[in-house]
Amino acid sequence: MAGLFVVGIAAFLIARRVLVPDGFGELGHFRVGALDDNRAQKPVHAGRAACAECHSDEPDRLKTGLHAKVGCEACHGALGAHAAAETDEKPTKPDSGKLCLVCHTQSVGKPAGFKQVDPKEHGDGSGSCGGCHDPHAPDKEPAAHAEEPKKS
Ligand code: HEC
Ligand code: HEC
Ligand code: HEC
Ligand code: HEC
Repeated sequence: MAGLFVVGIAAFLIARRVLVPDGFGELGHFRVGALDDNRAQKPVHAGRAACAECHSDEPDRLKTGLHAKVGCEACHGALGAHAAAETDEKPTKPDSGKLCLVCHTQSVGKPAGFKQVDPKEHGDGSGSCGGCHDPHAPDKEPAAHAEEPKKS
């Protein structure tokens, strides 16, 4: 029995030595190197200030409209590599018919003050939203703009 006990403890100590990474416990219940690893990671988002360095039209329109509080990358996805000019890949334009509904589909779970629409009832049945609403500066009353050529 005692032998089994000793073997068990030895196995535990060996496994612990192999499995616990270097630096664990030096400053607390975590691996010290994890801080440097996280710091070395590249941010995937650039932030809207970065977009304005090269694009002027959309940031200007966004600022003045009802979407002023929505970040560029909330709609366009993470574009850190694009903003840092690390890639030649041109970002794809979001499909408004899908994108807008991510936030605006009617749901009892959303605050009543947040404007929501039922896609089956609202719009022209085309499944698109961009034809009537400018995504960068949606109007409260877009009907007047619906006839104008699409701005974006
Ligand atoms: C270093 C300059 C630079 C920065 C910073 C930058 N862009 Fe761009 N962006 C470009 C260029 C150049 C193009 C290609 C334009 C073209 O070919 O018509 C482009 C194209 C795009 C397109 C596609 C346009 C189209 O007509 O299909 C989108 C969307 C876009 N950028 C969004 C963003 C967003 C959002 C940000 C901020 C996260 C951003 N860009 C930051 C330079 C930049
Ligand atoms: C509410 C969502 C939303 C936000 C916020 C948003 N965009 Fe867009 N953006 C779109 C959609 C949708 C399109 C595609 C329009 C189309 O198909 O014509 C687009 C198109 C673009 C284009 C391509 C040129 C054009 O007008 O078609 C650029 C460049 C762009 N956005 C940059 C930005 C930048 C920079 C910001 C932040 C200042 C931003 N967008 C914020 C939804 C958004
Ligand atoms: C990331 C979430 C998000 C996406 C995606 C989004 N919106 Fe919005 N939208 C908002 C928020 C938040 C507001 C309210 C801003 C406020 O009240 O300050 C808003 C406001 C609006 C309003 C104004 C409603 C009113 O009368 O006050 C319209 C219209 C609108 N959005 C249309 C669109 C369209 C069209 C698209 C797609 C191109 C879209 N939204 C995509 C978050 C979003
Ligand atoms: C045929 C043009 C047209 C299309 C397409 C369209 N809308 Fe609208 N939208 C309007 C008009 C007009 C209003 C203002 C009157 C109203 O509230 O119905 C409006 C209002 C809104 C509002 C504010 C609602 C409120 O309660 O104040 C939101 C949010 C909105 N639209 C989102 C969308 C989304 C998301 C799509 C795509 C599924 C879309 N719209 C497609 C014309 C359109």
